[in-house]
Amino acid sequence: MRKKIVAGNWKMNGLKTESESLINEIISHKTDNGVIKIICPPYIYLEQIKHQTKHLTNFFIGAQNCSHQAKGAFTGEISAAMIHSIGCEYVIIGHSERRTLFNESNQLIAQKINLALTENLNVIFCYGETLAEREKNTEKITVETQIREGLQNIEPAKYKNIILAYEPVWAIGTGLTATPHQAQEMHQFSRSIISKIADESIAQETSILYGGSCNAANAKELFMCPDVDGGLIGGASLKSLDFCTIINSF
Ligand code: PGA
Repeated sequence: MRKKIVAGNWKMNGLKTESESLINEIISHKTDNGVIKIICPPYIYLEQIKHQTKHLTNFFIGAQNCSHQAKGAFTGEISAAMIHSIGCEYVIIGHSERRTLFNESNQLIAQKINLALTENLNVIFCYGETLAEREKNTEKITVETQIREGLQNIEPAKYKNIILAYEPVWAIGTGLTATPHQAQEMHQFSRSIISKIADESIAQETSILYGGSCNAANAKELFMCPDVDGGLIGGASLKSLDFCTIINSF
């Protein structure tokens, strides 16, 4: 059985006290349907949020990025080993904002994924096409390339530590959501790529999240799609009730 997962990507939002309150509000809502919850706050709040949530089951924390280098003279960078050392279990890699705003290539992303897995972090690997690519009907080419190049050199045994997140760039933070039909088509396609580069049983066990303006109103129909195993939530993860409604949409 594939895991059902809802992850919140807080991006660069919230001051310390706001983050503490937000997590307390999330904890106060009832979400005991077995869904795995992952909160990805800014790095500097990871330890605090770990502390606030460590007694909870099915509740994990994740970083939003990590360095492609293991350690050394890389001013301002945070390594996968450091993230793991504070009790963090997950890291988001390949988010479209990192790809576009910070010029992260598939090669760099592959390097980060390898390092993160080596340091025993679980990876939420993001990929997805731009609007221009969808309008040219090349979304599958983009997605296949991103998956193949991002997951190059991954040993089959490591896939249990990888979650995929299909995030069409045109839907992120725009209020435009993929229709359930579009999401299902791309998730099924993503799974077929995993089947080719790993094998069919690994593909069937790999959770694939949808991200891109997923909210309290549309989560249910997206999560009903057979190949959508949950969501990576940006904007709506900053509102505790919306985020918990999304978790309870399964
Ligand atoms: P959004 O962001 O839900 O605000 O569209 C999703 C993401 O960037 O992961």
